Amino acid sequence: MNHLWNRSLATQLIAFTLAALIISQALTFLISWKEHSEALDAAAKSEFLSRARTLTRLVETVPPEYQKQALLASETRDSRFWVTDREAEDPAAWRLTAAAEFSRPLENFVDLVRIFQDGSARTQIPDAKRVAASNGGEGWRVPMQSLWALPQPIKYVYFDGSRGYGLVIKVDDRTWLNAAFYMRQTGGWWTSTSLASLSLTALILALLGVFFASRISRPLRHLATSAEALGRGENLPPLSEEGPEEVRRTAEAFNKMQGRLHRFLEDRTKMLAAIGHDLRTPLTTLRLRTEFVQDQEIQRKMLSTIDELQGMTEAAISFARGESTEEETRDIDLEALVGSICDDQSDLGKPVSFVEGVKMTYRCRPDGLRRAVRNLVENAVRYGGEARVFIRHTAATIDIVVEDRGPGIPDLMKEKVFTPFFRLEASRNRDTGGIGLGLSIARAAARQHGGDISFLTGDGGMQAVLSLPRDGRVETPAVPKGHDWKSLRGSIGLRAPNLAEKPTKPRTQH
Ligand SMILES: Nc1ncnc2c1ncn2[C@@H]1O[C@H](COP(=O)(O)OP(=O)(O)OP(=O)(O)O)[C@@H](O)[C@H]1O
Ligand SMILES: [Mg+2]
Repeated sequence: MNHLWNRSLATQLIAFTLAALIISQALTFLISWKEHSEALDAAAKSEFLSRARTLTRLVETVPPEYQKQALLASETRDSRFWVTDREAEDPAAWRLTAAAEFSRPLENFVDLVRIFQDGSARTQIPDAKRVAASNGGEGWRVPMQSLWALPQPIKYVYFDGSRGYGLVIKVDDRTWLNAAFYMRQTGGWWTSTSLASLSLTALILALLGVFFASRISRPLRHLATSAEALGRGENLPPLSEEGPEEVRRTAEAFNKMQGRLHRFLEDRTKMLAAIGHDLRTPLTTLRLRTEFVQDQEIQRKMLSTIDELQGMTEAAISFARGESTEEETRDIDLEALVGSICDDQSDLGKPVSFVEGVKMTYRCRPDGLRRAVRNLVENAVRYGGEARVFIRHTAATIDIVVEDRGPGIPDLMKEKVFTPFFRLEASRNRDTGGIGLGLSIARAAARQHGGDISFLTGDGGMQAVLSLPRDGRVETPAVPKGHDWKSLRGSIGLRAPNLAEKPTKPRTQH
């Protein structure tokens, strides 16, 4: 439930809107209901009092034989009128008489509500038992002068709580007008009509919520996908700047950031290329000047240093050139790409083997990835005697693993070897040693794909692991049994290095 709640913008928006609707309806009801029922009560009572006054005058003037008809003609669903020749004394007995009067059907009243709608509006008859039980100690009262204002004496009493009340008016010594009013129970707030209208409003709001949420979340989803792809180093078309103001500005900011990031990379590689290029001329001049050195031994050493410098400069230039060329991402068969690098190397007579796994399409920059894997393979051959290469699938990554049988890289140096032009002492003294740029280039390429390179040193060798995020996979064929990392090793009869640590997770590029 919590998962679902956190998940979707539409769910949250609809829940908030509906909660707001229900709370506001309830508050409105609470505030207005009391006022409303008081106003209705006052209106009904004043109508009843006015009618009682009119009827008092009428009874006073009409001969007794017409009085009953005149009173019946004036009754409504909520009021009853009758005359007696004696004054009612006992309030309890009068209450029961009044309740009984309400069970008498109306003679001339046309109840349109009852005819055209359901029967809920028909006369409500006070329950005799309830009437008898309530208002026990209450006696007759006399209304204020301002309410009555007729010379005829009057007294009143409540019945059935305060829902009903009745008047007894002395018209003359032998005529008493009795009037009873019983307030109908109006349906509560939760009538079927109000519930239907609330449901309809809720439905409309929910539909609007879905519409607005999708308007907001669609560009946000694009933004998330684009940010993910940018992290993997893909070149993306700018995001469309649509939707509400805030979302539009976020997309705008993302587009600007992408532009700046590209410009920053471009400037950096251009600068590197320029430095490398500018160093060429003074190096050539130096080489010419060594001609004038008399001592053969010193001249040889100077030329060797200049060669080394020149090599580094050339490497820096080609590195910069490689980085500055914007390679597009493409879907390629990763197994085929790694396999072809291994084939090329073994064709050159190097001890490189590739263990084929599952064919898999991956979205990447093939040239950059090829350069990175080639560097790892060359290093394994150079410093570890041989290279065994395979692709391993883990829960979060796709690892290109290059194994060798060499001494490996000491733990303290595992980060340092990625520094440009850095080489371990052992490789410096050997003829096989390179410039020291290979791993920097390889890591740059891996990070451009949202991945990284790490080393695992075991008893009998080292693994260089180039991990790539699984997100770049284009299709996911099932890994057949026997192709996991352990069985791969077993199948080619490698001795299992006692791996001291686990491969690090790929770092996403910032
Ligand atoms: N498989 C390995 N086993 C032991 N040491 C290694 C291995 N791979 C790299 N190194 C060490 O890390 C250093 C840096 O490697 P890197 O590939 O960056 O440079 P390089 O191989 O010396 O030169 P380049 O690759 O530029 O021709 C190497 O000089 C070597 O000392
Ligand atoms: Mg190298």
